[in-house]
Amino acid sequence: MVGYRSTGEAGTSIDCVTIVGQTSPAIPMANKEVITDRKTLETLAPVTTAPIRLHVFVCTGKSCSAVDSAEVKSAFERELLSRNMLFGKEKKGKNPKGSVLVTECASVGFCAIGAAVMIYPDGIWYAQVRAADVPELVEEHILNGRVVRRLALLKVPCAGREADLPAATGGESVNWEA
Ligand code: FES
Repeated sequence: MVGYRSTGEAGTSIDCVTIVGQTSPAIPMANKEVITDRKTLETLAPVTTAPIRLHVFVCTGKSCSAVDSAEVKSAFERELLSRNMLFGKEKKGKNPKGSVLVTECASVGFCAIGAAVMIYPDGIWYAQVRAADVPELVEEHILNGRVVRRLALLKVPCAGREADLPAATGGESVNWEA
């Protein structure tokens, strides 16, 4: 079986893994060689050479999952796939030279107002996102660089002041640095 299981104990650092289904030998992570050759690194992680422009994080923590964040993530993938913008492996129908990466993330504290979606590096956190909102987010934010203000709740970095929060209405472009 392919997969790894930690052999570390709770409260201790995890220093090795065991291939599931095999009890020995364990692979000592601490001794794993650090790869320093750039070409090798790029071959092992093709994302490092892709023209990634934006990274969409969709929270799949427990509360966001309860409001169908998995469907939100799927909707992003569908929308971006249809525009050939979704980065990923060709054999999975994605584009190895795609400009947008979509991944899950764990809870970010929006649990009561999920699903939470972050578009990086713009630093915009959207709240209460549903799959039906995704075409607008892709069209407005990802394609045209306009923040969808009705869903935008936070821009990071943020000093935590009310003045830093976007207005709840409108959909026009915002100069966040003004
Ligand atoms: S579960 Fe998504 S923000 Fe907490």
